[in-house]
Amino acid sequence: MPSIVHTGAEIRQLIHSAQLSGKRVGVVPTMGALHAGHLSLIDAAREQCDLVVATIFVNPTQFAPGEDFERYPRNLEADAAKLASCGCDIVFAPAVDEMYPQGYGTSIDVGAVSRPLEGERRPTHFAGVATVVLKLFQLVPANRAYFGHKDYQQTLVVRQMVRDLNVPIDIVVCPTVRETDGLAMSSRNAYLSPDERKRATALHDSMQLAAQLASTGERSVAKLTAAMEQHLNEVGGFVLDYIAFVRQDTVELVDEVTGPTVILIAAHLGQTRLIDNLVIG
Ligand code: PAJ
Repeated sequence: MPSIVHTGAEIRQLIHSAQLSGKRVGVVPTMGALHAGHLSLIDAAREQCDLVVATIFVNPTQFAPGEDFERYPRNLEADAAKLASCGCDIVFAPAVDEMYPQGYGTSIDVGAVSRPLEGERRPTHFAGVATVVLKLFQLVPANRAYFGHKDYQQTLVVRQMVRDLNVPIDIVVCPTVRETDGLAMSSRNAYLSPDERKRATALHDSMQLAAQLASTGERSVAKLTAAMEQHLNEVGGFVLDYIAFVRQDTVELVDEVTGPTVILIAAHLGQTRLIDNLVIG
């Protein structure tokens, strides 16, 4: 089993002594409820680093009132067993008042990259993410940190924060891990009813449809979006937040697919909000 550490003082001490003895440290920040997507990040860290640390913290500041902070699945024992099976060395699992003691006041705003898309629908979300990721990097001053492409805009926010604040950690982004029917793995998939779970594949299918149309010459984002919407309507049950096509590595919207482009989709399916993305072009 990995050792489980709950305090900032203890984890910093462990990381410093590992680095003093020449070890390269990798960190994988998570909110727990671990699945194969998370574990793929541990695998990547294991390949590239000598000491692998997973953090498990359901971060209250990235949830808005009325979102799923209270019902977010929490199971440290099951998570620790999964982490043990893929060779994670240390789990850092702080309590909320360890991370946000009485009187806490700082918040990190990374600016323009955090405003559109997810930032527009969840206006306080990325400040919460940037703040907790910086705090985790202070407590676990690793050489490399691993994030999933599944949360595309989050990877841009983290890269911006690290660049702007001179944080000496390399950010590694790993591919999205999917179920066999294409649904992107997510801790929130556990909220789906069996019927919703079947419909949920339409998110990925609709992006694949757009990818296929684009590969046969359709460049118009309006037409590609219409084809995706039609597919989602046929499957039914979705309330779409947005479909957006952005230039790869940015949040700049494009009207035409002329180079590497990321399709971003966010939709509600019953009580569950799902996001996914696909690189095309
Ligand atoms: P969480 O949703 O637990 O995700 C932790 C990491 O796993 C993120 O980098 C996320 O992009 C990645 N991940 C999730 N599903 C994945 C999948 N199907 N394939 C590959 N990687 C996947 O993202 C967060 O937590 C939080 O915002 C956090 C960064 C920990 C800050 O609180």
